Amino acid sequence: RIAYVNGRYVAHADAAVHIEDRGYQFADGVYEVCEVAQGYIVDMPRHLARLNRSLSELSIDWPVTKGVLPLLLREVVRRNHVVNGLVYVQVTRGVASRDFVFPDGTLSSLVITARKADPAAAAKRAETGIKVITVPENRWDRVDIKSTGLLPNVLAKQKAKEAGAQEAWFVDTDGNVKEGGSSNAWIVTRDGVLVTRPAEHGILRGITRTTMFEVAAKLGLKIEERVFSVAEAKAAREAFISSATTIAMPVVAIDGAAVANGHPGSITLSLRQAFFDVAE
Ligand code: PDD
Repeated sequence: RIAYVNGRYVAHADAAVHIEDRGYQFADGVYEVCEVAQGYIVDMPRHLARLNRSLSELSIDWPVTKGVLPLLLREVVRRNHVVNGLVYVQVTRGVASRDFVFPDGTLSSLVITARKADPAAAAKRAETGIKVITVPENRWDRVDIKSTGLLPNVLAKQKAKEAGAQEAWFVDTDGNVKEGGSSNAWIVTRDGVLVTRPAEHGILRGITRTTMFEVAAKLGLKIEERVFSVAEAKAAREAFISSATTIAMPVVAIDGAAVANGHPGSITLSLRQAFFDVAE
C-alpha cells in the first residue's frame, strides 16, 4: 500500500509524520472519509467543501492549492488499486514545538491513505442490520467540525462493541438522539416519513445525510428535520444510520429492544439501493 504524506508517495508501512505534529499532540486537525465505489470517489465535491469549512472554522491553512486535492485523492486511490473502499484525508496545523497557541509559519500537514473494502460484506451486513446502544452526549459543542479529536467517539463505539452492538448514539439531556459515533441517525415513522435531527448545530452535517435528501426525493419520500427521542426511535417503523462507510444501514435494535420486527426495514433498503444512482 501507498500513502501520500506531505508531498511524497511513500510505502504505507513506512509512512510517518513528525512527533511534534500538532495532530499527534493536540488533535489539532481535521479529516474526511470518502467512499470509493466502482473506482469513483463518491460525493467528492461535498467532502472537499466540508473539509474547507472545517479548516476555516479552525483557521488551519489549506495544505495544497484547493484544486490539487481532488487529483491527489484520485492518485492515492489509483496507486492502491482501490475499486471499492475508502479514501482518508487528514490535515493538521503542522509541526511546531509544543505550545497551545497557534504557532507562526508552520505548514499544514497533509496525509492521504486509501484502502479496499468488500462491498459484498457491506451488503451482507445490510441484510441483517446493526444494533445500537445509547450513551449520554459528552462531546464538545463544535462537533459540526470534522476534527480528529474523537476520543468520546472511540469510547462510545468501544462500549457498543462490548455490548454486542455496532454503533453508539449520543443522546442529549432531553433524551433526544443526536448522532452516532461515526454516523448520522435516522428513523422512519409509521406513516413512512424519514426523520433526522437538524444539522444546524450539535451534530456533523453528514455528506451521506445530505445526499440522502436527494435520494428520498427521488423515491417520493418525505423528510422531516426535527429532533426525535430514544423512545420514539424504539417505537419507529424503521431506524437506520448513514455515513460514507455504511451508506444507509438498517438499525434493528436499540439498547437491546428490537425496532419493529427486528429486521431491516424496506424503506431503508430502498434508500440504500437508490443511493448510488444519485451520488456523484
Ligand atoms: N464518520 N457523524 C459523525 C460523528 C461522523 O464521524 C460521521 C462520519 C458522520 C457521517 O458523515 P458522512 O456521511 O459525511 O460520512 C456523522 C466517518 C465515516 C469516520 O469517521 O470514519
